[in-house]
Amino acid sequence: MIERWLRPDLRDLFGYSMLASPEDVAAAYGISPDRLIRLHANENVYGPSPRVYAALAQGAWHQYPDPQGRALRRALAEYTGLGPEWIALGNGADDVIDLLARLLIGPGRTALIVEPTFEMYALSVRWHGGKVLTLQRDEAFHIPLAELLEAVHRHRPAAIFLASPNNPDGTLLSEEILHALLAEDVMVIVDEAYFEFSGHTFASWLPKHSNLVIVRTFSKWAGLAALRLGYALMHPELVRAYDEVRPPFNVNLAAQQAALVSLEDRAYLLANVARLVAERERLYQALQEFPFLRPFPSRTNFILCQVVNPDAHRLWEELLRRGILVRRYTSPELRNYLRISVGRPEHTEALLQALTEIAGEVPHGPS
Ligand SMILES: Cc1ncc(COP(=O)(O)O)c(C=O)c1O
Repeated sequence: MIERWLRPDLRDLFGYSMLASPEDVAAAYGISPDRLIRLHANENVYGPSPRVYAALAQGAWHQYPDPQGRALRRALAEYTGLGPEWIALGNGADDVIDLLARLLIGPGRTALIVEPTFEMYALSVRWHGGKVLTLQRDEAFHIPLAELLEAVHRHRPAAIFLASPNNPDGTLLSEEILHALLAEDVMVIVDEAYFEFSGHTFASWLPKHSNLVIVRTFSKWAGLAALRLGYALMHPELVRAYDEVRPPFNVNLAAQQAALVSLEDRAYLLANVARLVAERERLYQALQEFPFLRPFPSRTNFILCQVVNPDAHRLWEELLRRGILVRRYTSPELRNYLRISVGRPEHTEALLQALTEIAGEVPHGPS
């Protein structure tokens, strides 16, 4: 009845909602939310800085926030080493990505995306009426540079989205690839959502390359996923254009205040990041001991695992029955993979115990 009112070009997106709550998924397996170990969304188990709670105890909540987010942009300028005029804010990196798609790719324009990667790039481009052109990474998740350049020459995309490190495999974008792309007439958007975990950034390339955009978030390193604060680092002219197409109050005051104190308390937060990186390495070693798993080395707070003796979906279910939610995939190229977020040591222990149990019940792996 309603469908005839909806944009026909969006029709095949409807019905694939990603909004299923983890609690509902767990409840379907008889797991209560307070027992659920959430290793599916790359959240930061250590949470925000304690100073965030104090910062949120007061605020001029009855007034509209600064639409320019000036205080936060000044603090980010110090954090990133770029001027505030190079910084644009968003309601999470998702919003930044969406606004970039709005600004750069609309009807009649194309974005190039190398799969598998973060789902929001393709979705945002399509929401804005742009065309998505996809290439595939190879089996080791390497980007085929020659093919990529050929696609740029042939299809003349307005922008390319790449994540460094990439979600889901956790590997960095190579300098060689970024260099080659920046030499082309295309906007290159590099998503560094996991920068603090990888310790690697291309931010120093910005002053020399006006077609480079870097996207970051406070969701992962600063534990602010619920408050929603993302930002882009890009040429000041692009920042001004971005500001023209976004809702003026897209970043709420609570998020601005929380991000500000997070930057002030970065020593505390980065110590948690270091803890998670150490735990990631321990988890990686431990996962290698299971003959039915092939974990990939990662520069993030998650580890992608190939489930060698299928079926990954059966393993996902067995883990969930034991109260552990990890990320599974339905796309053919990732059907045999699970992505596991790094948690506290006790979460690792629970996961390893569950995997040992499952391996014991199904001696040749969960086939
Ligand atoms: C590569 C990548 N970019 C962006 C995001 C979204 O970040 P935010 O919570 O700031 O929207 C994620 C979240 O998982 C991600 O993996």
